[in-house]
Amino acid sequence: MEHKTKATFPKDFLWGSASAAYQVEGAWNEGGKGPSVWDIYTKIEGTTFKGTNGDVAVDHYHRYKEDVRLMAEQGLKTYRFSVAWSRIFPSGKGEVNEEGLRFYNNLINELLANKIEPMITLYHWDIPQALMDEYGGWESRQVIEDFDQYAITLFKHYGDRVKYWISLNEQNYFVSYGYETALHPPGVKDRKRMYEVNHIANLANAKVIQSFRQYVPEGKIGPSFAYKPYYPMDSNPENILAFENSEDLNNYFWMDIYAWGRYPITAWKYLEENNLTPTIQEGDFELLASAKPDFMGVNYYRTTTVDKNPLEGGVDLGVKNTTGKKGSSKDSGIPGMYKSAKNPYLEATNWDWEIDPQGLRIGLRRIANRYNLPVLITENGLGEFDKLEEGDIVNDDHRIDYLKSHIEAIQDALSDGVEVLGYCSWSFTDLLSWLNGYQKRYGFVYIDRDEESEKDLRRIKKKSFYWYQNVIETNGESLQGQSLAQQGENPYE
Ligand code: BG6
Repeated sequence: MEHKTKATFPKDFLWGSASAAYQVEGAWNEGGKGPSVWDIYTKIEGTTFKGTNGDVAVDHYHRYKEDVRLMAEQGLKTYRFSVAWSRIFPSGKGEVNEEGLRFYNNLINELLANKIEPMITLYHWDIPQALMDEYGGWESRQVIEDFDQYAITLFKHYGDRVKYWISLNEQNYFVSYGYETALHPPGVKDRKRMYEVNHIANLANAKVIQSFRQYVPEGKIGPSFAYKPYYPMDSNPENILAFENSEDLNNYFWMDIYAWGRYPITAWKYLEENNLTPTIQEGDFELLASAKPDFMGVNYYRTTTVDKNPLEGGVDLGVKNTTGKKGSSKDSGIPGMYKSAKNPYLEATNWDWEIDPQGLRIGLRRIANRYNLPVLITENGLGEFDKLEEGDIVNDDHRIDYLKSHIEAIQDALSDGVEVLGYCSWSFTDLLSWLNGYQKRYGFVYIDRDEESEKDLRRIKKKSFYWYQNVIETNGESLQGQSLAQQGENPYE
């Protein structure tokens, strides 16, 4: 769809940036905090790049005032951060840790004093280890009540000042990495258990949305879904079918539940045939259908192209590139359903993530048309190597390029009629990239640390910091900066 004139960004568009507690805070055992599953998992040999963990991360816990000052300087309208559940309830439930409550209270007030709208993620993967030990965390329905009580505590304490809330961050990833590919805690490879966990997480998500209506009636809440729109490899009908299989099983399987409280028919059939269906109890679907979110939160990084994959001898779990060695990932799939394939039209990063701004527009249109919900882009960004040059200079033109093209795609989607509430880049400062250590950088602000040493954790504004500052200042009218592609360079080599 081409437009004669493009839509402009709404006046109150939320230009923001995001982070997650485990990736930035550090202070893993300070301020009364209990351990989360990530505090334990990362200490197991071989789980992360060069054994990195978030014990110190980028020390946001101690330096949050400095970080907020930088956000204010950049002009952020919103900052999305997550609360560490085990900072509020060290054992996951029971007695509340006042010091933990105070930390986020101070952060919220600091943001507001700087005219930055706080946006809270209730859960960004760090379930308290105590709940894992007691009943297996997300594998037990007991978690629904504990998660609800934790959320209610936050609603009661912060709901007077915080309007935007994210329920679960990337449920589709924490269940699949945790229980299918065994890359995240608890490191399980069992698809039956994954679907059980997922259904329980769906119920927990719905329950907190219900509570939210009661405690923060003026607020807005939704999940952040890790959305990788799929493409068929070509027009071969068999590949179109593979594409539909992957959309149903990997995207609509979550978003249909969020929006409508039901699983897609063909995906459910696949689960039945393979003895993977979760346990359904009376009232489950009523609860799910009763908890419609106010928006679909979307974390967008890339698309995936798929083709057919035979049931016998087809491609199964692939290999993830966690080193930044280009080309080291391997295709993945589900035999009889689909497998991933290289898209010849797209370039990829050093971590083999295909770069596709048009895919964001396509994804936004699919959501708007299917669910008729506004979208809040809760993550989008480029993880790459950055070079700190003499005089504290970081020329991250590759990041500017990436963000610029994606913001243009949002503008196109707005012109297509999609309602987009805001855009949070990932991330504000550099941070711990879970399995990839500290060398995969996402921030506007460089943090002087690496895998080997915490160095001085100095904050250094990258070139993209100033670029985004100008984008915000002009409300997206000026996306200036000639792209590297326009300059005839390939930014990812
Ligand atoms: C999302 C997560 O999956 O993508 C973030 O919500 C994460 O926490 C981001 O950091 C980028 O992924 P990665 O693996 O490169 O850190």
